[in-house]
Amino acid sequence: MTSELGDFLPAPNQGAHPEVYEIENNALDRSGVLFARLRSLAPWDGRVLLDLGCGTGFWLPKYLTEQGTVIGVEPDLNLLPAARERSPKVQVLHGSAEHLPLLDASVDVVHARFAYFFPSPNYDCAAGLREVLRVLRPGGSLLVIDNDHQHGQFATLLRQSIWASTQGEDDYIQRWWAAQGAQRHEVMSSWNFDSTKDLAQVLHLEFPAELAQGWISQHPDSTELSYGYVLYHVRKSQLS
Ligand SMILES: C[S@@+](CC[C@H](N)C(=O)[O-])C[C@H]1O[C@@H](n2cnc3c(N)ncnc32)[C@H](O)[C@@H]1O
Repeated sequence: MTSELGDFLPAPNQGAHPEVYEIENNALDRSGVLFARLRSLAPWDGRVLLDLGCGTGFWLPKYLTEQGTVIGVEPDLNLLPAARERSPKVQVLHGSAEHLPLLDASVDVVHARFAYFFPSPNYDCAAGLREVLRVLRPGGSLLVIDNDHQHGQFATLLRQSIWASTQGEDDYIQRWWAAQGAQRHEVMSSWNFDSTKDLAQVLHLEFPAELAQGWISQHPDSTELSYGYVLYHVRKSQLS
């Protein structure tokens, strides 16, 4: 199925293998350290949270609070049905970072989790950022959840992977966000799988076969690896 959103690129991991990406999401941040940091940087209890590029919606029900509203936006028509099945309390809309089907100043917190915001010399994210700032209320927050390219075992694999370059160089990414006035935060967490088989499937999803196999040969009994996140936090001015 195709999408009429011209600016949309299917995600190679979630878009092509949603069932393996589900295993990956299940392994993420079981200690809750990332979630706690997101909450402390931009609390969303009783507010409107948008999960931009929500994919199959794994995180949507986890963002629900007693009084708050959670909205998912996703451009990939193949992923929308799964996202819509996650919870009757969450509205999931077809849209993209560049085309958000939401009113001006209608959202308090936007999360973009490994979605759209991969700035590089060949991929300008300014249009999506403008659109996010349009839908945010004055004082609202965008939190972009990205990989730490320096710290943790995942970062070591990322630096060795030829695919990493498609998600931009770390220096460029940091400079781009600094130019947008973003605050940068590092959060060290881990991937914890239920089995070595699950870990192997996800490593093979995210990395070239030789690299994945090399790591598995060196850590044959491991179901865990350390995983660093970087968060970029842009606040919309109270005065806008
Ligand atoms: C790696 S997946 C992550 C999905 C989800 N955020 C998660 O963590 O499970 C990247 C997502 O970004 C979406 N995406 C691609 N282009 C986009 C765009 N222009 N605007 C918003 N989302 C986009 C993909 O369709 C995919 O669902």
